[in-house]
Amino acid sequence: MNMQEYIEEAEKDLLHTYNRYQVVFDHGDGVKLYDIEGKEYLDFVAGIAVFALGYNNKAYNDALKAQIDKILHTSNYYYNVPAIEAARKLKKISSMDRVFFTNSGAESIEGAIKTARKYAYLKDGKTDHEIIAMNHSFHGRTMGALSVTGNPHYREAFEPMIGNIRFAELNDFNSVLAQVTDKTCAILFETVQGEGGIFPATEEFMKQVRALCDEKDILLILDEIQCGMGRTGEMFAWQRYGVKPDVMTTAKALGCGVPVGAFLMTEKVGAASLVAGDHGTTYGGNPFACAAISKVIDLFEEEKVLDNVRKVGAYLWKELDKLTEKYDSIIAHRGVGLMQGLVFDKPVAPVINKALEMGLVLINAGTQIIRFVPPLVISEKDVDDMIQILDTCLKELE
Ligand SMILES: Cc1ncc(COP(=O)(O)O)c(C=O)c1O
Repeated sequence: MNMQEYIEEAEKDLLHTYNRYQVVFDHGDGVKLYDIEGKEYLDFVAGIAVFALGYNNKAYNDALKAQIDKILHTSNYYYNVPAIEAARKLKKISSMDRVFFTNSGAESIEGAIKTARKYAYLKDGKTDHEIIAMNHSFHGRTMGALSVTGNPHYREAFEPMIGNIRFAELNDFNSVLAQVTDKTCAILFETVQGEGGIFPATEEFMKQVRALCDEKDILLILDEIQCGMGRTGEMFAWQRYGVKPDVMTTAKALGCGVPVGAFLMTEKVGAASLVAGDHGTTYGGNPFACAAISKVIDLFEEEKVLDNVRKVGAYLWKELDKLTEKYDSIIAHRGVGLMQGLVFDKPVAPVINKALEMGLVLINAGTQIIRFVPPLVISEKDVDDMIQILDTCLKELE
């Protein structure tokens, strides 16, 4: 079958929950993707901030193959070595104390919400606790994660949500204060908002919220699912500010393609929240998933991924700034590390489609922002190649 035939079949069989780009990818190598007809693409999306190590990393593939030959799955009722090792390594890079492995980002958020509610319940025995989340946030599509997602468009048809969620503005501490009541059990936000338009939390905001949480014994939950695992030049974005959360979520690049996630907490929270019987998952933390996590963390260190993010992130910043100066249609440039966005004064879909035609994979965040979340192993030369194609697209579409 050719590409068009596959696309037609997909549109008949798969539930239409995505407006998909007209391409069927077949394989990848480094920062390049190839479609089923052999065309090469430079990838600045990485499966939306997932494939940090690039495609077809031999050491990673070999580790997965070795685990397949040993055992894929047991049950969380038994211990397994890959989970023990992955938890040890994840604790080390995050300085958190307790880990629960999940299968996805949304599931990590569900676990974080349950942790906060249980922590508050154990303190006062009440069941009316509130969580403060942020407008323009994105935390996933399950009912709990959707309930704390600050975009009414995603929620409307699925009301009622889980309830007792209040919304404030990221980087506006007074708006957070206005939502605090004696029922508040947690304040939740992405350290860098992704889907909402690449908005980093400011250091001042982080510190103010941390102090408020300390004063009132409210849990600070940071969603590091998109911005974590090295994307900002630190393993987790909050480490740039030294503002440590009580609970943290991660996923995406944690597995580099194997569907995994985790929520982590400090010992204080771990000792006073979820206990046996409160939470579980069949697949979360299975040997295969954890072999992936374990190898990803090793390779981050061996391949000096953070150094590359800092270096190439700064270069990308400089080059995107030049583009911003060149085109009136680009009205803002923001982000950090290898998580950057260009804001346009019009929808970016035509630019993204044109780029795809020209062999460059880009993705939006909202209708007017192009988001740059490439594999973390990209080089300055890859940035040059990307800029050249994007520049041509913008010129042609002007
Ligand atoms: C910040 C953030 N939180 C949560 C999620 C949900 O993760 P998943 O799609 O793995 O459920 C995403 C996904 O884009 C995300 O960017």
